[in-house]
Amino acid sequence: SGKTYEHLLVSSPKPGVGFIQLNRPKALNALFTPLILELNSALRDFQADKSISAIVLTGSEKAFAAGADIKEMKDLTFSHAYGSDFIESWSDLVTFLKKPLITAINGYALGGGCELAMMGDILYCSSKAVFGQPEVKLGVIPGAGGSQRLPKAIGKSRAMDAILTGDNITAKQAGEWGLVAKVFETPEECVNGALATAEKIARYSQIAVKAAKEVVNKSQDLGIREGVEFERRVFHGLFGSQDQKIGMKAFAEKQKPSWTNE
Ligand code: HXC
Repeated sequence: SGKTYEHLLVSSPKPGVGFIQLNRPKALNALFTPLILELNSALRDFQADKSISAIVLTGSEKAFAAGADIKEMKDLTFSHAYGSDFIESWSDLVTFLKKPLITAINGYALGGGCELAMMGDILYCSSKAVFGQPEVKLGVIPGAGGSQRLPKAIGKSRAMDAILTGDNITAKQAGEWGLVAKVFETPEECVNGALATAEKIARYSQIAVKAAKEVVNKSQDLGIREGVEFERRVFHGLFGSQDQKIGMKAFAEKQKPSWTNE
């Protein structure tokens, strides 16, 4: 979009793909308010940009993000936190984004960094990535979804273990437990893998992709019966799209579909 940011690098390195790199290296990408506001703005721009179909979010090799900014939080009072609904701006990051977000996690993803990573629709990491919710060591608890998303991702007992001890989760554990979809050897492979997946998704009908993301996300909130009914309604709705006709006609005629996104 041509905007420049102080704490982000934003580009579109492949057709249909938006790329955001957190860029606050001196603080290991600690997530302070100015960075979160920029991230919201960059994601909103990609959401509005018709040429962008999928987004990759990453940090540096050393840190995806080492957490919410402890120095910014340390003097916060209850009345200010409650009154300003501190961290509420973080929840914007997921609720409005309809396009797939892949988080490519290298290095530390701790506290708010782990929570931000888990806001991705798909998580990829490299072999030296370190996850964790160490808030208990600071006298607090996760505040941006960690206590809810981590148990959904890895199960209650493992999540309790991590959150009550503050111990790290290794990349190997993250892969075995399904916190991430893939573990790559190197950070470069991880980012390239995320970009390749985003590019692949960007080549499908954006109507189908949007509907698929919406129904999978519903599975996190709804019971199985309501979820399956919701899925069926959305499935029915897609027979009102041109791309359903195009996709199925192309299969029957052994052609490649060319999507209209309508
Ligand atoms: C502010 C941070 C930071 C953080 C690192 N830095 N993490 N500043 N908030 N979360 C700063 C350090 O103060 C230091 O600044 C610089 O980044 C480099 O960090 P070092 O500690 O010198 O690096 P290293 O020895 O390699 O250790 C890396 C580390 C450690 C293990 C990741 O930095 C660490 O433990 N960080 C805190 C992790 C954490 O507790 N995260 C959860 C935060 S609470 P200077 O100026 O000294 O060079 C949280 C709550 C979320 O996230 C709730 C809702 C959002």
